[in-house]
Amino acid sequence: MKILVIEDNPDHALLTKRVLEKANQGYQVNSAREAEEGLRMIIEESYDLVICDYRLPGLSALDVLKKMSEKRQDLPFVVVTSSGSEKIAVELMKEGAYDYVVKDSSYEDALPIVIQRAIDRYNVKKEKERLEKELRESNEKLKEMYEIKSSFTSMVSHELRTPLTAIKEGIAIMLDGSAGEINADQKEFLDIAKRNVDRLKRLIDDVLDFSKLESKKMVFKMQKGDIMQTIKEVVAVQKPVAEERNLYLKAELDGSISKIEFDSDRMNQVLNNLVSNAIKFTKIGGVAISVSEDREENTVVVCVKDTGKGIKKDDLPKLFQKFQQLGGPNQRKTGGTGLGLSISKEIIEQHGGKIWVESQYGKGSEFKFILPIKKRYKVLVIDDDKGVLDICETFLKNNGYIVLRSESGMEGLKAIQSNMPDLIVVDMRLNDISGYDVIDRLRSSNGTFARPILVMSGYADEIAKIENRKEELSLPWISKPFNNDEFLSKVESLLMNWA
Ligand SMILES: Nc1ncnc2c1ncn2[C@@H]1O[C@H](COP(=O)(O)OP(=O)(O)OP(=O)(O)O)[C@@H](O)[C@H]1O
Ligand SMILES: [Mg+2]
Repeated sequence: MKILVIEDNPDHALLTKRVLEKANQGYQVNSAREAEEGLRMIIEESYDLVICDYRLPGLSALDVLKKMSEKRQDLPFVVVTSSGSEKIAVELMKEGAYDYVVKDSSYEDALPIVIQRAIDRYNVKKEKERLEKELRESNEKLKEMYEIKSSFTSMVSHELRTPLTAIKEGIAIMLDGSAGEINADQKEFLDIAKRNVDRLKRLIDDVLDFSKLESKKMVFKMQKGDIMQTIKEVVAVQKPVAEERNLYLKAELDGSISKIEFDSDRMNQVLNNLVSNAIKFTKIGGVAISVSEDREENTVVVCVKDTGKGIKKDDLPKLFQKFQQLGGPNQRKTGGTGLGLSISKEIIEQHGGKIWVESQYGKGSEFKFILPIKKRYKVLVIDDDKGVLDICETFLKNNGYIVLRSESGMEGLKAIQSNMPDLIVVDMRLNDISGYDVIDRLRSSNGTFARPILVMSGYADEIAKIENRKEELSLPWISKPFNNDEFLSKVESLLMNWA
């Protein structure tokens, strides 16, 4: 093992060398009298460990550590301090030193132990980094496979749509007699073909919708509007279906409901599914839709209540999963694909709402969903530290924000392309590109040119750098660990000034 001792006091350097030789570990010891020389040796020769005196003429041990980190030199680094400066040593450890030893009467005994401890720490850190890298790589692989799966699904669905439309058209032309008279038998077969083609088209549309929703690639046309209007449209379409089965379908729409932001086509899709389910699974009675406002929670609550077969308690957790039809294969006759509720759940959740069901088996079900009245802003947090991401996510979600997270700069930039956030919180030190690169790229792209950005850093020197570049960046920043209220107020004021 090759050890470099950086020490300006020749007596102390000699003492250290002796202690190391006495340890009988076959250490090969070289020494440098000052930091610059030490740094040069670290870079030019390869060392396994550095022992560095805290007080050196010229550059200090802290400067040596910083220069090493700039040059990506990570070695077990032990700082030698005079007694009473342990606090400084702890500071140094925060900056990357692995351990420290005090120059006092116990120095000779302590040094070999401290060296071993620094080496152990270094090995643990390297092992942790290796495991994290492995995990990151396998996550990347999973993500890649997921991407392939979802692009395959959407490619196949798109490819199926075109020929299907041609078949549908062909059947319609034959059915309406434009291609010549057809007899009763031919009409019957064409009707069957039409029903099945329609069914297939619905299935493909559903698979495509679900795949887009699941990969968060669905673009919503959000507009402020009256949800009662959408309910009325759904009732108009579904009323004949209910009446045909001798069921009532009523909408209790009195009272005034605040306007909310939603995509009316997608909300129509959710309500249509809930109402058509309610009709499908009800034999006697009917379906009632109601809407109200929960002023305390600041949400609009929509309820679709039926007097149908109800849902068993054990089945409730399965309900919103994809391709779940509780009746199993017997349910074929009611049609459908079992995607309706999972699509509805994604749509409602991506509107910042929640959907759930209350049901009594044999008596009926109540499907309810809520939508927020206040606009919910979307915040993307880019940080390579999962812990920080978790904290930000929980905290922002608890305060009504929709949170997107990315563990690297490139991943963040990619996420922005498919799902534009209202605010971007970015850490300065990332695993791949730096926070500066992320900001530069955001600022030079049309879509994100003016998007609010909150800069985050855990390093004092980084904050100083941001301070220096403040004019040029003109970005607000927050230092880690941050105070939650301060974080929230920065996020709020940024969004308010931008909106
Ligand atoms: N109102 C209800 N009463 C009883 N069971 C219901 C009700 N709504 C849904 N379910 C059960 O939940 C299952 C899933 O519903 P979902 O809407 O996801 O699928 P689907 O209606 O079968 O097909 P799709 O909506 O894709 O055409 C249904 O198949 C049914 O078993
Ligand atoms: Mg359905």
